[in-house]
Amino acid sequence: CVLGVDLGTSSVKVSAVTKTGAIIAQESADFPLRQPQPGYAEQDPEDWVSATTIAIVRLILTDKLKPADIKGISYSGQMHGLVLLDAANQVLRPAMLWNDTRSTKQRAAIMAKMGQRFIEITHNQPLEGFTLPKLLWVKENQPDIFAQAKTMLLPKDYLRFRMTGKLAMDYSDATGTVMLDVQQQQWSQEILDAFDIPKSLCPPLVRSIDDTGSISAWYAAYSGLATTTRTFAGGADNACGAVGAGIDSPTKVLSSIGTSGVILKYEPAKNTNYQGVLQFEDHAIPDAFYSMGVTLAAGFSLNWFKQTFAADEDFTAVVKSAGKSTVGANGLLFAPYIVGERAPYADADIRGSFIGIDGIHQRHDFVRAVLEGIIFSFQDLLAQYVAQGSQFETVVSIGGGAKSALWQQIQADIFNTKVVSLANEQGPGLGAAMLAAVGLGWFETVSECTKVFVHFKDVFLPKPENVAKYQKLHALYQQIYPSTK
Ligand code: XUL
Repeated sequence: CVLGVDLGTSSVKVSAVTKTGAIIAQESADFPLRQPQPGYAEQDPEDWVSATTIAIVRLILTDKLKPADIKGISYSGQMHGLVLLDAANQVLRPAMLWNDTRSTKQRAAIMAKMGQRFIEITHNQPLEGFTLPKLLWVKENQPDIFAQAKTMLLPKDYLRFRMTGKLAMDYSDATGTVMLDVQQQQWSQEILDAFDIPKSLCPPLVRSIDDTGSISAWYAAYSGLATTTRTFAGGADNACGAVGAGIDSPTKVLSSIGTSGVILKYEPAKNTNYQGVLQFEDHAIPDAFYSMGVTLAAGFSLNWFKQTFAADEDFTAVVKSAGKSTVGANGLLFAPYIVGERAPYADADIRGSFIGIDGIHQRHDFVRAVLEGIIFSFQDLLAQYVAQGSQFETVVSIGGGAKSALWQQIQADIFNTKVVSLANEQGPGLGAAMLAAVGLGWFETVSECTKVFVHFKDVFLPKPENVAKYQKLHALYQQIYPSTK
């Protein structure tokens, strides 16, 4: 088997997967997130190592996996988190995570210095969440630490380093640092020079399916793994999630509803540039890319509504009650900007709204308006693709949106596209396992592996009469942002 390590923000989940894509065992372990001040989000990298080791030890002792049978391991990691190592490869300070927003000043300084040229090189804006603004925060606020820093890693790269003793970063995570030149596929000397960052901080770049060395003798003794087990670089969690959901061609788009929501599209060409309105990243699939837009409050909006107006009721029943309303929620519109928005409007100050409240409206109309409003915000992201002339045939729905037939039909009708769900939704850990399977040579390409590992289940087709109604409503929805700004 292979192990797919899914290093998240609150826990790590390790899945053991066979050559046929069957998951034979899964273990997870939690670790804390520290928020010592508003806007700060930090973790101790050692916690990732110990939690992963706990999960691996459980796989060996509880689930009886034989270490010699584990042929390969690969990794999916929370993106953008800054880990700094000194000359002896010791961690210099807690990791600053993707959701750490203290670097607003540095974000502005990057744009003031480089402006449009920065977006040309990286295909992204230097948002607080990304790595470069965090690195510049350390440089300005903790110059002693910056002076001692010899290597910069991202979370899963640090974990892999501790398991193998070798330093590397894969391209899919490297784009998330916003220090990679996307056209050249190498660290951008221009950006490094502009901010006086030594190139030596940047680790060697590898592809997600590349061999990154075997388990070290030290880690074998610590975990019980065998030194014959090989590791493969792995990728960013969104890239691995896309691999695990079968997003391996430009015809498929991912629609994911968690606390936040993601629309993600496979991009065959690196010269596509959404000017930072959408994120643009290297894929974990070699020589491929993906773009991504985030709706900050997707599942969060629905949770907020349920907690506030239906706290005592069953969640599934509340969602189902939307079926009692009509397409368009009897004229009620909801904009899900309740914690600000990331894309297509990068606006931390905007807030949500219900528009068109009528004396006839009942609670189920409000529930339906929330479900529809979240999907209208996704449609705004898909509109970025349509504006660039790119086409897609299928939307793969995962997360909360895939748990309700009604919500999947709403997606098909608003997107005017076929929506499918996965037979066995596993998340980024499966994608990581697939990268190991390809790295080991079990499959020639990620697409070959997808055919064996990923299966679609339900199919929802757009209903023309609903599509026409939603097109009119979406035009109204699009007026909400400028009108309420
Ligand atoms: C993507 C992002 C998050 C993290 C979560 O840009 O910041 O999706 O990857 O782990």
